[in-house]
Amino acid sequence: MRSGRDELRERVRVAIQRTRLGRPAKSIIMVGLRGVGKTFLLNQMFMEAEAADICAIYIDAHENRSLPAILTPQLRMSLLCLRRLEAAKDSTVRGLKALAGFAEGLMVKFRDIELAVDYNLEPGLADNGDFESDLTTLLVEIGRAARSAKIVCGGQGFP
Ligand SMILES: Nc1ncnc2c1ncn2[C@@H]1O[C@H](COP(=O)(O)OP(=O)(O)OP(=O)(O)O)[C@@H](O)[C@H]1O
Ligand SMILES: [Mg+2]
Repeated sequence: MRSGRDELRERVRVAIQRTRLGRPAKSIIMVGLRGVGKTFLLNQMFMEAEAADICAIYIDAHENRSLPAILTPQLRMSLLCLRRLEAAKDSTVRGLKALAGFAEGLMVKFRDIELAVDYNLEPGLADNGDFESDLTTLLVEIGRAARSAKIVCGGQGFP
């Protein structure tokens, strides 16, 4: 069990390093009996990532909430965090505009989206109302902001 956990943590480290280099990385899903230590391990990985200057987000995925509703506040927090860094300011503002467009475009389809809007949306930027393509646009903008700040953004979900 112990070696299995170390191996998982190592896989996460490798994924983070690959992301830093702009290479694709594999995601991980942990499955196990109740109380086996999944959340504990996720928390450890989260703390390790933060200690390595990774802008990680912690998401509790409630089954009654839509994915965009769950994602938007956390992504906003990451962007606001990046905005404090001078080098990332412009790209972060663009990311926040993309986030406003993303929320606005999907609000009719997913009625549970709530977002404090920091900047007005920029027409055409993640605001088409198509979840898949708008999410891609949004994540690309967040990635650009993170790259300007020389930080990696990653996320983990907690079922
Ligand atoms: N490696 C560890 N060292 C010390 N305590 C641990 C370790 N792994 C798990 N625990 C403890 O065991 C308990 C259960 O762990 P955890 O909540 O992570 O399980 P889980 O797999 O997420 O369970 P569930 O499926 O119910 O969500 C917690 O109190 C946690 O702190
Ligand atoms: Mg758990």
